[in-house]
Order: sequence, then structure tokens, then C-alpha cells
Amino acid sequence: MLTKELLDEFFELKERHDAVVLAHYYVQPDAQDLADYVGDSYFLAKKAATLDCKTLVFAGVEFMAESAKLLSPEKRVLMPEPTADCPMAHMLQKQTVDEARQKYGDDLAVACYVNSTNQMKAWSDVCVTSSNAVRIVERLPQRNVLFVPDLHLGHYIAEQVPGKNIILNDGFCPTHEAIQVREIEELLAEHPNAIVCAHPECAVWVLEKASYIGSTSGIIERCVTGKEDEYIICTVHGVLHEIEKQVEKAGDAGRKRFFFPRTTPICPNMSRVTGEKVVACLRDLSGEVFVDECYAEGAKRALERMLELAR
Ligand code: 13P
Ligand code: SF4
Repeated sequence: MLTKELLDEFFELKERHDAVVLAHYYVQPDAQDLADYVGDSYFLAKKAATLDCKTLVFAGVEFMAESAKLLSPEKRVLMPEPTADCPMAHMLQKQTVDEARQKYGDDLAVACYVNSTNQMKAWSDVCVTSSNAVRIVERLPQRNVLFVPDLHLGHYIAEQVPGKNIILNDGFCPTHEAIQVREIEELLAEHPNAIVCAHPECAVWVLEKASYIGSTSGIIERCVTGKEDEYIICTVHGVLHEIEKQVEKAGDAGRKRFFFPRTTPICPNMSRVTGEKVVACLRDLSGEVFVDECYAEGAKRALERMLELAR
């Protein structure tokens, strides 16, 4: 909880620097509460591309802030915690892309999850997020699609788009991969009427237990609008903050209950982004994001293709 002094300072700094704050659902609740917009990766990338302001504070991990900078290069983009990175964003070798391109030639598209470095995006034909991946892969003209870097999201897409030959890479999110199917089974035994909502970064055995699979925003919406009383949530615990706010607004706070795996999924990078750090980066104008010029054009092209194909 931020002090009144800190909050007053925050609003004064925001005005002085003409700043808008974007936050992902996995950052600390007090950072989410300072944000003008909280959302999933796709929503935040779209917002960054259209906002009219001089400064963007991106409460999230590096690939998200970099995407915002690529789509809005004229803005100053600040990261409250500049060392917050996503390990999966580095799990791809260039050789994997080269070999697939050599094997399939023009009938190959490289689809890159937005959780990736700019260099990987530049090697690719299009970016996707968890909320638009299936739609975009369906719309690609090529039959062969190398999906990078996430193995589990790639596997989920392959099931949803059986007409395509999806070639998988071996990247993964350590936080989602750690969710054990045994823990979900135990929760289901305790709460047999609960429905399981899972992020597609979870392993296939967890996804097999899910009645709903979607992005963070999708999971939140499913929990808020669902008729059921009990929900087992297989994604990072940070989403609970928004779910509770919306459930309260809908008048369902007493009725609905939400459960997470016993080994609570916390993203160690996102959780270092706090409200105090949001204020501090605006105070010092620290954590500014710059993108490497040699990958900027290619990475931006892949992101813009995503925005075009997701429409
Ligand atoms: P969303 O696009 O669903 O918000 O997911 C981002 C992410 O990093 C999930 O781990
Ligand atoms: Fe990356 Fe996983 Fe954290 Fe999402 S939850 S930012 S995929 S480490």
C-alpha cells in the first residue's frame, strides 16, 4: 500500500512527464493499482501503439516494454524494474529457424510468441500472443509453421489448427511448467464442481484437465462472467487481484471461490515490479528502454503483422 505522499508525488510526476502507466496482471497489486490500463500482452501492445502521450511506464517484463517501444518509437518507455526479464524469451537457437527455412522453403512461416527477444522476432514472419495465436496461425498462407519459442503453446496451437504442420521448439515458461497435474487432480477431488481455467503455457497434461484455456484476460473474463461458484486457476497468482475487483463489482464476491495449485505460481520477474518502483522510475526517469537498431526493423515488422492479422 503506497503512502498518501507517494501517491501525490506519483500523480504530480505523471502529469509533469505526460505519462501513461501500463501494467500486466502478474505484477504486484500496488503496481496494477497505479496503472491507467492493466491487461494481457496483446491488449497492452495494442494500447502502446495507439496512446497519445510522451512517456510510457511499462510495469511488466522486458519483452513487453520492448514491444511497446518498437510500436511507439517516439515515446520514452520506462521499466520500473529494468532487470525483469522472461526466461522463455531467450529459448531459441537461430539454427532451428535456419534448418526449418531450408527444409520447407517458401511454404514455411515462422510464428514467434511475443515472449521473445527482438532478435528472435526479427528472424520470424509474425508475432503472436496467447490470445491471438490460434487465429493468426489459421490465417497464415503457409501450411508449415515453425512455432517458437514456447513448446506448450505450440502444442496447443497444433491441436487447435489440425490443418497445419506445426513444427515445435523446446522453450517453456518455468512458472507454468511447474504446475503439476497431480495438484490439479487433488483440487478437483476437494472441489468436484470447480472448473479448471488454464493458460496455454501450461503442459499438455494440465491443459487436458481444463474446461477453459486462454490468455490472462481470457481467464479473468471466464472467472468473472462464469455461472460456476468455484474455479481452479492454472496461471500466475497475480490475476487474482483483477478477478477479485471485478467479481466484487459484479456482486458475486460472497459466492465465488478461486483456487490455485498448492505450489502457488508466481513469476519471479513480474513479482519484482512494485508500486514504489513505478513511482521511482518516473521520479528519476530511470529504466529507459532502447532497442538494438539492427533488430528493430525486423522485430517491428513481425509485431505489425500480428496487429494486422489479429484484427
Ligand atoms: P498473456 O498474454 O496471456 O497476458 O501472457 C503473458 C505471459 O507472459 C504469460 O506467462
Ligand atoms: Fe515469462 Fe513465464 Fe513470467 Fe510469463 S510467467 S513472463 S512466460 S516467466
